[in-house]
Amino acid sequence: MSDSRIDFLVQPGGALVGRLRVPGDKSISHRSVMLGALAEGRTAAEGLLEGEDVLRTVNAFRAMGVRVDGPRAGHVEIEGVGLHGLKAPAAPLDMGNSGTAMRLMAGILAGQAFDSELVGDPSLSKRPMKRVAEPLNRMGAEIRTEEGGRPPLRISGGRALSAIRYALPVPSAQVKSALLLAGLYAKGETAVTEPAPTRDHTERMLRGFGYAVEVSGSTVRLSGGGRLKACRIDVPADISSAAFFLVGASIAPGADIVLEHVGMNPTRVGVLTILGLMGADIGIENARESGGEPVADLRVRASRLRGIRIPPEQVPLAIDEFPALLVAAACAEGETVLSGAEELRVKESDRIAATAAGLRALGIDARETPDGMIVRGGGAFRSGTVESLGDHRIAMAFAMAGLRSQGPITIRDCKNVDTSFPGFVELARRAGLGITIRGGR
Ligand code: S3P
Repeated sequence: MSDSRIDFLVQPGGALVGRLRVPGDKSISHRSVMLGALAEGRTAAEGLLEGEDVLRTVNAFRAMGVRVDGPRAGHVEIEGVGLHGLKAPAAPLDMGNSGTAMRLMAGILAGQAFDSELVGDPSLSKRPMKRVAEPLNRMGAEIRTEEGGRPPLRISGGRALSAIRYALPVPSAQVKSALLLAGLYAKGETAVTEPAPTRDHTERMLRGFGYAVEVSGSTVRLSGGGRLKACRIDVPADISSAAFFLVGASIAPGADIVLEHVGMNPTRVGVLTILGLMGADIGIENARESGGEPVADLRVRASRLRGIRIPPEQVPLAIDEFPALLVAAACAEGETVLSGAEELRVKESDRIAATAAGLRALGIDARETPDGMIVRGGGAFRSGTVESLGDHRIAMAFAMAGLRSQGPITIRDCKNVDTSFPGFVELARRAGLGITIRGGR
């Protein structure tokens, strides 16, 4: 990966029209590769996200002796080696920008016979890993972090794991998943209790691979010592990527788009609930099941949005969508208050600080609070320059601001858009956004 930086330049105005399908779900794509590699037999997936984050996961398994054909045009085939078939990698595994890859891999690697090391890019190297290292060590793993619980993670192999019961201190699907994946290798029944519902793809997909997972109330349980059986997976379009277009079409006068085959897992649809409360016009069409996940086509038309108090229970269900939702809030009549969202401070960037700074750079009254933000909406964006801080979701959220702007908007440092949404600029341009790429600094 080169160090070259790129900026987005977005011209004011335009509307989003037509039908489009955004790339595959990132969470499901990572898990498809991980579970496929650990299963017995050949797993095939369609619609896989070919973003850099997922390719890091693919490369990590290749480095541990797993044959992966593709991905090409969303199709990938993985020759599973079984839970005990991975080989020691020759070098540290580089997870790039991906917190999901690093945290879930920590759970898998904790149960292996060999030593391993997980490293990441400068953003990932600042993110908290004690949240996985500490409970995994309680299971008998030996994972060392850097000062302050940061990466790299050095994982000693050959440790016998025993199941624990663990109450998550923060709602985190990544920590839950890391413990469940380690639980596959542990003696006894691992039980993870969540303080609030988070995305449940690991639970669903383990079942899809034939593994018994019990869910009762807020607790997920599984017992170690079983086997995963290869399966076929249809990855839906990522609702977190669709979110930029849901917001863009809601704020752009004259917009009317259909987003096809969007994943509608109930633990992911907070963005629809929140936009609905704000008065967005989103129709759910052709709702159906596909490969164990609900999907639908979403028709979005421009509407007058109003500011709201975002219900705190929706926060974990929309955790990746707040940069986009706060851009919507800036276009809404009245005040929007986000609270209970301190987790946003430890994403690919501090998304509370980055979003507030971006909104202010475009002339919006946005006030940070320790756990959220207060945005006074109602007007249009002013021309300005937004620092994405290398965060893909900040970059794409502010690209949509162009649809309601009085002048051009520059967004800096947008290369990491490729981690979750390769082809974003082309797709957005085809839909009607006046966006171009510039060589940057
Ligand atoms: C993810 C869980 C969430 C989310 C991330 C993907 C996953 O992170 O923000 O983009 O695939 O499990 P946390 O578990 O840190 O909330």
